[in-house]
Amino acid sequence: MAESTETMDDDAGAARFAELLANEHRVEPTDWMPEGYRKTLIRQISQHAHSEIIGMQPEGNWITRAPSLKRKAILMAKVQDEAGHGLYLYSAAQTLGIERETMFDQLITGKAKYSSIFNYTTPTWADMGSIGWLVDGAAICNQVPLCRASYGPYGRAMVRICKEESFHQRQGFEILLQLMRGTDAQRAMAQESVNRWYAPALMMFGPPDDDSPNSKQSMAWNIKRFSNDDLRQRFVDMLVPQAEILGITLPDPDIAWNEGRGHYDFGELDWAEFHEVLAGRGPANAIRVARRRTAHEEGAWVREAARAYADARSTERIAS
Ligand SMILES: [Fe+2]
Ligand SMILES: [Fe+2]
Repeated sequence: MAESTETMDDDAGAARFAELLANEHRVEPTDWMPEGYRKTLIRQISQHAHSEIIGMQPEGNWITRAPSLKRKAILMAKVQDEAGHGLYLYSAAQTLGIERETMFDQLITGKAKYSSIFNYTTPTWADMGSIGWLVDGAAICNQVPLCRASYGPYGRAMVRICKEESFHQRQGFEILLQLMRGTDAQRAMAQESVNRWYAPALMMFGPPDDDSPNSKQSMAWNIKRFSNDDLRQRFVDMLVPQAEILGITLPDPDIAWNEGRGHYDFGELDWAEFHEVLAGRGPANAIRVARRRTAHEEGAWVREAARAYADARSTERIAS
């Protein structure tokens, strides 16, 4: 008996789900959704949350060494924003039925993936400029279309996140601009840093379309709106004129305006390196996960205290 009711619900749910997508409406946590849709979103949103949290490390590395009080204040605000992005996104993932503790556990045991870009190191101050300009810049290209993602809590979280990302991108550009207007040594530092970050930033959009098996389904579900290669092209088109303003050379001799396509052509990327970093063999994979694990363990007393406080408050409320 129960089984046939469920099947009926599933059929009605599936029809309603298809209708929501066809009309470009949001899917909300209480709506019926296919298991594959739920799983894809849990994977994507939790990986996104982990990226925000791990992404605090390469820049956190420079907070105590920022060259002025103003730079320190800006960098602290930026790194705090990233923590906030992580928290919105963990909340969005929780609406799909996964516990926050489970996601934390997947991260600190090295089971979960996060954006490979954060496995590169930040040896110079100019890296704060490159991260803002290139990494947050690529994040914006990727995330603006996600504001229209079909899953309501994800799309709505992305609206606020994108506003903050655009501040991040500007502050990075401004760090590089100031260095480029400085001494020869400062200009060389900026150029050397951009040389290291440019290709990894382009790889943030994921493998080429022919090599991206899940993209099609995500596009059919209105989660992903543009293909990896389309987004990468948009990013390069955005970077070239900005690099000209900076006076920085993008480290790709094949960049050239293509009149016929109305876009900039650019060279092949080294995907072998991308897969190495993805497989955990990047310059800082082990450091990032170990540091997160230590921070999580050292913060256990804060979580315990917060839980005890919340319990005490709810007992008080029941008593009164
Ligand atoms: Fe962010
Ligand atoms: Fe950011």
